[in-house]
Amino acid sequence: MRISCIINGEAQQADDVWEGESLLYVLRERLGLPGSKNACEQGECGSCTVYLDGILVCACLVAAGQAQGRQIRTVEGLSDGDLLAPIQQAFLRAGAVQCGFCTPGLIMAAYDLLQTNPDPAELEVREALAGNLCRCTGYTKILDAVRLAGARMGRP
Ligand code: FES
Ligand code: FES
Repeated sequence: MRISCIINGEAQQADDVWEGESLLYVLRERLGLPGSKNACEQGECGSCTVYLDGILVCACLVAAGQAQGRQIRTVEGLSDGDLLAPIQQAFLRAGAVQCGFCTPGLIMAAYDLLQTNPDPAELEVREALAGNLCRCTGYTKILDAVRLAGARMGRP
């Protein structure tokens, strides 16, 4: 089947999509958007997190057909060309990236939190990131990155 949708503001189309394929597969393997990572493919790790019509979802759990006609935003869509979004810059500056497999999903979750709450308490940050697993960092630097990004995004 053919899937047509809007991804990061641009109309995109994928042909010959099998009904059982995930949105994650279509993004990575058919549309050349490898930012969303495939770590567990079971909805457990959050590394494939994307926006689907403005709601965060695990792209590995979304059937490709469900994306038909929808708006999707991936981690690639947070930056403005080569200019990284504040949350992306903050992950780099705080040293919150090691292997990087969890990073796109954590950035999406943190970005979503900071859109509505630029000065979250640590508990709120931990709750917002609870669905995203990191095997490398111990989370401390990830929490630092969210704090740093919140400050840069206009915390009073
Ligand atoms: S790859 Fe989708 S939640 Fe882990
Ligand atoms: S940096 Fe490796 S899993 Fe998080």
